[in-house]
Amino acid sequence: MTTGFSIRWRVPALGVLMIVTWLAPIKLGIAAETGQQIFQDICAPCHTIGKGKLVGPDLAGVTARREANWLRRQIKEPDKLIEEKDPLALQLLKEAEDVEMPPPEISDEGLAAVIAYLKSTEQLANVEVGLPSQYMPTVIISLLVLIGLTLIGLIVGKKKVDVR
Ligand code: HEC
Repeated sequence: MTTGFSIRWRVPALGVLMIVTWLAPIKLGIAAETGQQIFQDICAPCHTIGKGKLVGPDLAGVTARREANWLRRQIKEPDKLIEEKDPLALQLLKEAEDVEMPPPEISDEGLAAVIAYLKSTEQLANVEVGLPSQYMPTVIISLLVLIGLTLIGLIVGKKKVDVR
């Protein structure tokens, strides 16, 4: 009797699952790193994160404060938002004493990276409270997968022993 899930497949399957569950946070970390570089190079002359207003507003907490799609547009094409008389953009313009943010030369990847970086600085603020909530699903799923595979392994393994 062969039960489809032989020992030959259990080890690679476990490996793949572990890689998948670990990859997500690592990828986020890499994006945050290049995002930090972009931030230093392009944005830091006008923005701080938590050190107060420069030319533009302090960006601490901005990814929580603003809607994701609006934030992407504000960073990629701030001039268009003002052109469209977006109320929030006009308000920010007023607060910045009519200094407009120039549209930065940034790729879509760079944009995603810089937003990931802004997000990661907000997670730092959570470290004292505990593990960033974003990691909890990964941790729980990994644990469940490990327990599940162990159980399957034990059951299938036992059957094999019986056959022999
Ligand atoms: C030359 C100065 C300058 C540079 C460079 C600059 N900004 Fe701005 N930024 C501003 C000003 C001024 C405002 C407010 C007025 C406006 O929106 O035009 C602003 C507004 C913003 C806002 C909205 C803040 C809020 O409270 O909603 C975000 C987000 C932002 N900038 C992100 C960035 C990012 C990310 C970069 C780098 C890719 C960058 N900025 C580069 C000057 C700048």
